[in-house]
Amino acid sequence: MSALHRKRIADWFAATPENQEVEVAGWVRTKRGNKEIAFIALNDGSTIHSIQIVAELQHFDEELMKQIQTGASLRVQGKLVASQGSGQAVEILASSLEVLGAADAETYPLQKKKHTLEFLREIAHLRPRTNTFSAILRIRHALAFAIHKYFNDHHFYYVHAPIITGSDAEGAGEMFRVSTLDAGNPPRTETGAIDYAQDFFGKEANLTVSGQLEAELAAMALSRVYTFGPTFRAENSNTTRHLAEFWMIEPEMAFFELNDNMDLAEDFLKYLIRYALEHHADDLAFLEKRLAEEEAQVAKEQRSAMPLMEKLNFVLNNPFERITYTEAISILEKSGKKFEFPVKWGIDLQSEHERYLVEKHFKKPVILTNYPKDIKAFYMKQDEDGRTVRAMDVLFPGIGEIIGGSQREEDYTKLHRRITEMGIHEESLWWYLETRKFGTVPHSGFGLGFERLVLFVTGMTNIRDVIPFPRTPKNLEF
Ligand code: 4AD
Ligand code: MG
Repeated sequence: MSALHRKRIADWFAATPENQEVEVAGWVRTKRGNKEIAFIALNDGSTIHSIQIVAELQHFDEELMKQIQTGASLRVQGKLVASQGSGQAVEILASSLEVLGAADAETYPLQKKKHTLEFLREIAHLRPRTNTFSAILRIRHALAFAIHKYFNDHHFYYVHAPIITGSDAEGAGEMFRVSTLDAGNPPRTETGAIDYAQDFFGKEANLTVSGQLEAELAAMALSRVYTFGPTFRAENSNTTRHLAEFWMIEPEMAFFELNDNMDLAEDFLKYLIRYALEHHADDLAFLEKRLAEEEAQVAKEQRSAMPLMEKLNFVLNNPFERITYTEAISILEKSGKKFEFPVKWGIDLQSEHERYLVEKHFKKPVILTNYPKDIKAFYMKQDEDGRTVRAMDVLFPGIGEIIGGSQREEDYTKLHRRITEMGIHEESLWWYLETRKFGTVPHSGFGLGFERLVLFVTGMTNIRDVIPFPRTPKNLEF
């Protein structure tokens, strides 16, 4: 049979065992047994569960059996039978065993004992072979698929924003330069500055921090669009929630105001969480158990109040709290809690403030709106009071900000004034400004950090553990 149509281990777990001939291939997780019989746990990544291969040693060569060690890859033929032992419904009684690639048990880094997540990060090339990371990768895939499905079902078009840009969408200046100039001896202008006119694009180029501005252009024609691509930030923040390279989902909708934007954000997040619960219950159950074991080791105050799946259901079953930034500041001021960063109107909220609001005060996700204009990007729609803008951040327990978005300023004069006030180079945004000259409409959008979503759904605590090969300051292995 073509490998394309071959059944996976997950499919055999779902089958009724009736001595049918089966063939599976995968990697050995463990081998145990006695003088007569070996039990091999084989996993092919199709499920968290490894299938038990039963090999009666009299039928197999001793040298072959020696090669079957943790980490080796194996092709097995045999009969699918009801399992004699407890813990699994079916097993395979092997008639043929073929070692495709041996693995030296002495040097194979993944041993049966529990490894720390820190150690697993150092062997990111092998960590997908652990239960934890294979579960995370399956859930990550499912969420990506569900994102496309949700938008397709709601009539959004997927547009591809460029990765290399000549503008700074967020105006924060935290960008990675893209250049083919000789770094050791770059061409210089008369004033001694590096002459980017001689660079590949004839001007300064960077990796994008967001696809929003380009998504806005497309929304001005297709009404509902989204991007889903890699974005890059050269912020030197070594936290458990920041990556230098992360994936962002950015829907952008013409004729949507801030309330519509919030409705979409809430419905979208709930859909994605529900999708994971419905399609990956086994993986989530495993991660929940793992989390509980890990939490048993730490102090009580640091433990999360709820088991993982209960927490996910809790988010599904409660409306998100919607309050303004100004109301949030007043709650924080009245809390009597001593924060590391003192609270007063105008500050950019720190994760300690966000987490207080979500985890202690409201005990559910919160959408904060109408932030001071001075701490938000130039493109946000200005409120009548002249002090705030129509921003919205969605804050989640354990994560803090998971979504950042806003209604956009559609008025040419106001947008132009803000760009000038903030000292942004107008020349790099002429095309963006033009959309406000020709058929401008109210419109809104947001950015969901994909890894923050995966972090929340899997219950993991470090963002480096939910992307296959994390890029963070001073870390570019693999
Ligand atoms: O709040 P941010 O910076 O918003 C934007 O980039 C807008 N252009 C989005 C839009 O309105 N279309 O980023 C959006 C989200 C954050 O809420 C967070 O989840 C995630 O992106 N994010 C990061 N995730 C991982 N590592 C980082 N360094 C991140 N920076 C932002
Ligand atoms: Mg933000």
